[in-house]
Amino acid sequence: MIEMQDVHKAFGDNRVLQGMTLTIPKGTSLVIIGGSGTGKSVALKCILGLIQPESGRILVDGKDASKGDRDAFLARFGMLFQGGALFDSLPVWQNVAFRLLRGSLKRPQEEARQIAIEKLRRVGLKADVADRLPAELSGGMQKRVGLARAIAAEPEIIFFDEPTTGLDPIMAGVINDLIREIVTEMGATAMTITHDMTSVRAIADDVAMLHDGVIQWTGPVAQMDASGDPYLDQFIHGRAEGPIEAVR
Ligand SMILES: Nc1ncnc2c1ncn2[C@@H]1O[C@H](COP(=O)(O)OP(=O)(O)OP(=O)(O)O)[C@@H](O)[C@H]1O
Ligand SMILES: [Mg+2]
Repeated sequence: MIEMQDVHKAFGDNRVLQGMTLTIPKGTSLVIIGGSGTGKSVALKCILGLIQPESGRILVDGKDASKGDRDAFLARFGMLFQGGALFDSLPVWQNVAFRLLRGSLKRPQEEARQIAIEKLRRVGLKADVADRLPAELSGGMQKRVGLARAIAAEPEIIFFDEPTTGLDPIMAGVINDLIREIVTEMGATAMTITHDMTSVRAIADDVAMLHDGVIQWTGPVAQMDASGDPYLDQFIHGRAEGPIEAVR
């Protein structure tokens, strides 16, 4: 469903992606791991076309992601941004139902509101948050509103950037189960960025580790522990000592 081939992206002399190659088969869940600042979020934004790489190819369902109808392209995606990116002047339910209130997916207002409330329930939020503003919620609640928005229009492809950061362990478990369900029940293709190794094990079919601008290791999650890759081992065990320097 998604292919990145030899993608390069620099910001000035900061060479972030230096030949990133990645494949996500349709209906599978890929988790990207890697140190802070290695370019995970940049890679995700390149696939969405929000950042233009200097070279390389990105294909979504066999089509060049940078060409064609942007609206139709983006309508296939659900997206949770790392910082939440909620609209702070809109009540929670209108954030969740954002795409159901406009454009080609437009539904009657009451129906959109009911869908929003149902999606909020799936991320562990009660209906009474629907009419509040994002600023009136805790950080973890805002994150979950972002998740509810990402899944509201039942997209084919879902990107989650740090879905469990800032959540308590029980709520993180709820979100991990939800991501797994979306892939297995709805047949969606998912790409998740996380630092949470419990989450990696709960949601990944495949894992890819980004380091020094390239995919250092990729494989099925079951092979992660016996990879023999010193970079991956250092990362998954959280060791200060190893080939990855702590100051970057
Ligand atoms: N719009 C931008 N302009 C300039 N530099 C950017 C921009 N976006 C990202 N960068 C730089 O690209 C590098 C990778 O950033 P990115 O956000 O992808 O890291 P990350 O792997 O997602 O890290 P984290 O785990 O901390 O979220 C960083 O050095 C960052 O400063
Ligand atoms: Mg990031």
